[in-house]
Amino acid sequence: MPESLAERRDRVLGAGAPLFYREPLHLVRGEGVALFDANRRRYMDMYNNVPVVGHCHPHVVAAVREQVGMLNVHNRYLHDGILRYGERLLARHHDGIESVVFTCTGTEAVEVALMMARLATKRRGIVCTDAAYHGNSAEVRKLARCQATTGEVRSVPFPDARRGAPADPAVWHLERLREVLDGFARDGVPVAAMVVCPIFANEGLPTAPAGYLPQAAAMVRAAGGLFIADEVQAGLGRTGHWWGSEVAGIEPDIVAMGKPLGGGVPIGAAAGSRAVVENFRRRTGYFNTFASSPLQAAAGNAVLDVIEREQLCANATRVGTMLRDGLAEIRENCEAMGEVRGRGLFLGVEWVTARDAQEAARADREGARRIVNALKDKGFLLGNAGAFGNVVKIRPPLVFSEQDAAAFLTAFAEAAGEARQAT
Ligand SMILES: Cc1ncc(COP(=O)(O)O)c(C=O)c1O
Repeated sequence: MPESLAERRDRVLGAGAPLFYREPLHLVRGEGVALFDANRRRYMDMYNNVPVVGHCHPHVVAAVREQVGMLNVHNRYLHDGILRYGERLLARHHDGIESVVFTCTGTEAVEVALMMARLATKRRGIVCTDAAYHGNSAEVRKLARCQATTGEVRSVPFPDARRGAPADPAVWHLERLREVLDGFARDGVPVAAMVVCPIFANEGLPTAPAGYLPQAAAMVRAAGGLFIADEVQAGLGRTGHWWGSEVAGIEPDIVAMGKPLGGGVPIGAAAGSRAVVENFRRRTGYFNTFASSPLQAAAGNAVLDVIEREQLCANATRVGTMLRDGLAEIRENCEAMGEVRGRGLFLGVEWVTARDAQEAARADREGARRIVNALKDKGFLLGNAGAFGNVVKIRPPLVFSEQDAAAFLTAFAEAAGEARQAT
């Protein structure tokens, strides 16, 4: 028997490298919202946010191709492209975000953001949520599903308006934050920053209690810390706004960005006030070989061109609303669907054993996996995510059209109906 591609992968990459789907896909080409496998089967990509302007957008491909054929060096030279890109990216943020450090990954951007905050405040304490993921380096990993109540990194319960079950969920969640801030002060590890994804993507897009994040930011600042928004998933038009922070009603002190910035070319960025960034530069002499390069600039500028020209933020709002309304309608006849959540083209559908059961007990991770695999068989690629793994994650490229949404809703209703019959 010849070695299968999956066996070869295990041998070359070492078994354990994660793969999606019961029967993994062998993809060979992408175009717009479509991905094609080795048998030329077409799938609609409802998952990937790196190709935010669609797979292989001709404008991005042309810009990258031209730059690779012209100049591609590290960043210790003057270059207009990267400055233009930095200026354009910064102009999309609120006025307090003035200067930027480019990196190659979201992890590095969060790592730099943490360093910026710690150097600016001369403090070490970091608050995150208990179901977060911000990256995979030794330092940033400390924030992944952190349960710690001692040490330099401590967590608060991720905000879900249903969590804690009190009359006023915002108050309950803010009390938990108060305990962490007080604990830091008591232990002589004062808070440097709180870092969150402003839409709590990895937590499963829970509906945070109204006003939670602005009040949390105010509490952290009052305690002498800074507020860091991790926009790696939430940013660049995904929610119908440029940044998830706009949806959450906050103006962060430091922003970390990544995934979609380069449309496939690795770009990350950490930005803050000029004083915060220059303090970081002075104290660290930070250098990152592939970051801030002419190639990153070409890709990043081209992605911004497309988002602006094709008005993709507005498209995310329009098509996302249609998608969310359609899912809510399907939910009326499908008890397995809990909350339909999210904004723009980043939606989540909770899969539950019973709508009225409590939190983890109601999470139906297997059901979410089954529906994801059923939709893959129908030609739609999704994933499952969230604190309990039971949220079907819907996050197509922002060029997703109303016709694409209609086709997906038809398939989703069929799959939900089949799941109902099977149980
Ligand atoms: C919210 C968030 N922040 C940071 C990261 C890390 O980004 P990267 O994988 O590019 O290092 C991720 C990756 O999934 C993420 O979801």
